[in-house]
Amino acid sequence: MGKLTLSLVVLALVGLTSLASGATDWWEDSSLYQIYPRSFKDSDGNGIGDINGITEGLDYLKEIGMTATWLSPIFKSPMADNGYDISNFTDIDPIFGTLEDFDVMLKKAKAIGIKIILDFVPNHSSNECEWFEKSINREDGYEDFYVWADGKDDPQNPGKKLPPSNWEGVFGGSMWKWNEKRQQFYLHQFLEEQPDFNFRNKQVREKMLDVLKFWLDRGVDGFRIDAVPHMFEKVNDDGSYPDEDPTNHYYTQDQYETVELLYEWREFLEAYRKKNGGETRVLLAEAYSPLTMLDKYIGNGTHQGAQIPFNFALWGLNLTTNARDVQGMVDGWMSFMWKKHQTANWVTGNHDMGRVVDRVGENKKDLIHFLLTGLPGVTVTYYGEEIGMSNVVTCENCSYVETRSFSRSPFQWNDGESAGFSSSNETWLPVAEDYKSVNVERLRSLPRSTLKMFVALQKLKTSSAFKAFKNKGGFSYGAISENVFQIIR
Ligand code: GLC
Repeated sequence: MGKLTLSLVVLALVGLTSLASGATDWWEDSSLYQIYPRSFKDSDGNGIGDINGITEGLDYLKEIGMTATWLSPIFKSPMADNGYDISNFTDIDPIFGTLEDFDVMLKKAKAIGIKIILDFVPNHSSNECEWFEKSINREDGYEDFYVWADGKDDPQNPGKKLPPSNWEGVFGGSMWKWNEKRQQFYLHQFLEEQPDFNFRNKQVREKMLDVLKFWLDRGVDGFRIDAVPHMFEKVNDDGSYPDEDPTNHYYTQDQYETVELLYEWREFLEAYRKKNGGETRVLLAEAYSPLTMLDKYIGNGTHQGAQIPFNFALWGLNLTTNARDVQGMVDGWMSFMWKKHQTANWVTGNHDMGRVVDRVGENKKDLIHFLLTGLPGVTVTYYGEEIGMSNVVTCENCSYVETRSFSRSPFQWNDGESAGFSSSNETWLPVAEDYKSVNVERLRSLPRSTLKMFVALQKLKTSSAFKAFKNKGGFSYGAISENVFQIIR
């Protein structure tokens, strides 16, 4: 591991300026916290986190200065993809609790001022969803609910069919799966247990609006939209599907109709607010897409889409990143997206990527917090980043899908049984070995710790000097050498 290559100076001139133009909406400089529900807190001792556990943990989120939390899926699911395969979009999976537990959590969150953002997974359902069953059986109204196709004749095996196109799924293998009963292929951008909805079908769109309404009526503050780029695929005029170059996914990602779909959802949220009042409901978009696409997902001047398309530029941070590299990563967003929309957000981790500590090295974990908080806009903290949790290797020779477990280990609350995550010593993923030293209780009690620094930074972020100044600047940043990245607020 090389020498320290990144350092950071934050000069806060607190209180010198007041909010100049256009007051900021709550989300614009918010601190978001991603909870992976299976791993946050287990209230019933079965080794898997749950909603009552989240309710217990809400005070902690308040303590560390969070504005809102987005929860990975808690809906009814056979768990082929840990909840990203939903079988009932308007019910809670018994592993996590009940709708009543959910309401209790929401009530507590509202009482202490933490906003709740749910994961909305519209691209696909579980293959065990009753809509998919109905679609297989060509039941009235469901026949075209999913993307079905006949496939091509197989010249080698007369009577047999080949997939309609060469498309490869995100998790590898063909995007098409033959269904014996229906005698057609269905499309799945992810696992074969996750059949894709057909968003060209108006009824699907309506169903999804019903889902949004269901959770809005219960009182949620917004949605993180899963897998945005994957919503539509290109179809030829004759109904066939064009082959694509598997390296650029030109026909299976970021289609123009997806942009329009986001605008439709935003419009729905705005209309809901107009009718029912309350604060802005927010849309976060998960899209590993070029900035030119994220720009469209935010809006085009006449239409608005997701307020926060995640900015994954800092994913590139690694052991050898220096201050000038950081400048490059930050500039990408600031010189285009900030300039155009005056919004920014900074993400260094989530449940799909390895933990940031492992990428940048132990000694830089506090610097990362300085960087994220020092920059203008939204900070996104993946549970455990605030205490410096690291990856837990859960398998050998793992596939990409399996490596995603590395960053999903149980949250480290204290040095007790299962790090205070569960009363059981058998947890769904192993607890990290460092939990005796890396845990909330201990870091809270030290005079100076990663957690203490994180909390102090969050406090600073709420000061007037750290507010976003629309079109007015109020901050500057840049590498002043290879080793020093400076942010002035
Ligand atoms: C998103 C989720 C990921 C999931 C996939 C399919 O990328 O973050 O965990 O597997 O969508 O829903």
